[in-house]
Amino acid sequence: MLWIWQNDRMSAKIVGVGIRKVTQLGHPVLRKTLRRLTPEEIRSAEIQRLIQEMAVTMAEYDGVGIAGNQVGEDLSVFVMGLPKGTKRHPDGIALTVVFNPVIRPIGDDFEEDWEGCLSVPELRGMVRRHKKLELIGYGPDGKPFKKIYEGFPARVVQHETDHLNGLVYLDRMDGLKTLAYMNEMGRRG
Ligand code: NI
Repeated sequence: MLWIWQNDRMSAKIVGVGIRKVTQLGHPVLRKTLRRLTPEEIRSAEIQRLIQEMAVTMAEYDGVGIAGNQVGEDLSVFVMGLPKGTKRHPDGIALTVVFNPVIRPIGDDFEEDWEGCLSVPELRGMVRRHKKLELIGYGPDGKPFKKIYEGFPARVVQHETDHLNGLVYLDRMDGLKTLAYMNEMGRRG
């Protein structure tokens, strides 16, 4: 695939790959259950282009993950990735594309942490998520994908898979009392 990390940031300057507009809460596509793709569709030039556009859009907006409906597409796919060395998660997350994702939680452990979303700008809220899970779907080559995630990457997987089922993190909060504007949080440490 064409995309690359440059100086620990994904290059958004790949020739011919445009940054997409991110849909925001209120756009109906964010509340839809998205259409699953066949391996043949996944390998099509149109879908290969879409996932490149999703990756550069995610990097441009400084996101850790992006779902199909966040770029206005009714398609069950998410992209995630984070360069190494960030405050959020120093280990980084390898650039990953998953179609038709399904989550199987492993164990009964949960973790609570802050989440935000490119479609819900400026806000953060505490969300309880499974600590460990297995993710099953198809990779960008249309072949079966299966991987175990734990901690922050598992949180991202759950957040993005929720998008594909028409859910945002606000739906997963135990009430809205922790919901906060980032700049207000920053001011208060
Ligand atoms: Ni999101």
